[in-house]
Amino acid sequence: MKKLRILLIVPVIGIFQFCGSSKKATETKTTAPVAKAKTISFETDVKPIVMNTCAPCHTVGKKSHLFEYDIAKEHIDETIERIKKGEADRGFMPKNGKKMSDADIAVFEQWKANGFAK
Ligand code: HEC
Repeated sequence: MKKLRILLIVPVIGIFQFCGSSKKATETKTTAPVAKAKTISFETDVKPIVMNTCAPCHTVGKKSHLFEYDIAKEHIDETIERIKKGEADRGFMPKNGKKMSDADIAVFEQWKANGFAK
């Protein structure tokens, strides 16, 4: 009987959370529900963004090889700082490119917040 009660409570909590978050989504456009809903890992989330957005500058040659786990981790604070800058600001990344989406920026922040999952 106790088990049954728990089973009934869980969906109710789920519905409340859903209502709460959908309300927020219409209020602020900067939330990134996709990035928050799951654990961000380097191989599946961070690396593909680096390969799409930061190549070829950071994948070949002398610039930091941000597609390598250790190097991306080592540069995470500078990376977050730079991708959050305005396109015209000094040090903005991707250099000469377009500002990344809020969701993609959130991937880097979440990766750090989650403790750098591989
Ligand atoms: C068009 C080439 C180009 C692209 C694309 C680019 N960068 Fe850079 N990046 C540079 C250059 C050149 C420097 C060194 C000059 C400086 O510090 O601004 C640099 C420096 C950096 C640094 C400082 C550490 C280092 O390697 O010297 C970080 C961190 C960085 N970039 C992150 C990124 C991220 C993250 C992306 C993708 C979202 C990106 N960059 C895309 C050219 C690029």
